[in-house]
Amino acid sequence: MKYPITVYGDTLLRKKAKNIEKDNPQIKEIIENMWETMYYSDGVGLAAPQVGLSIRLFVIDATANADEDPELADFKKVFINSEIIEITGEEWVMNEGCLSLPEIREDVTRKDEVRLKYFDENFVEHEEVFKGFAGRVIQHEHDHLEGKLFIDYLSPLRKRLLKSRLNAIATGKVRPHYRIKVPAK
Ligand code: NI
Repeated sequence: MKYPITVYGDTLLRKKAKNIEKDNPQIKEIIENMWETMYYSDGVGLAAPQVGLSIRLFVIDATANADEDPELADFKKVFINSEIIEITGEEWVMNEGCLSLPEIREDVTRKDEVRLKYFDENFVEHEEVFKGFAGRVIQHEHDHLEGKLFIDYLSPLRKRLLKSRLNAIATGKVRPHYRIKVPAK
């Protein structure tokens, strides 16, 4: 089942998401639906708050980027109850987009490395360091669990320039190819 995508203006995207209990019987199905929604929407990653669920879960498939970075060849992962231990390394800029901000792409500066603790879909705990594109996408998706969006990193001027386009999203005046849930007024 494909979920509609929660977009900018929805208060749920600004909430801190809750931890998932180990024996939650619905998680398997939610993960399957999130993959289906993400592939259909052409996203590289998708966080649960983007499908209306305020829980600490995101999925990433970066395997399509293996051309540029061979380490991404098997990077298809589920992240449950992730916790950032530290973000380090050089700052670098990448043009980011987000399914919750249709038609907006902006350069975002982030540090290169993230050390993350998380559980996989079998509730096995991991602690790993992710760099480059993987580290970038993880930081972006993990931010969704904290109620943060990539536009929060932009300068006040860039944000001002985006204002009318953000209003258009919040009032349902955008038509991406995937289904969105128009925020309630
Ligand atoms: Ni996003």
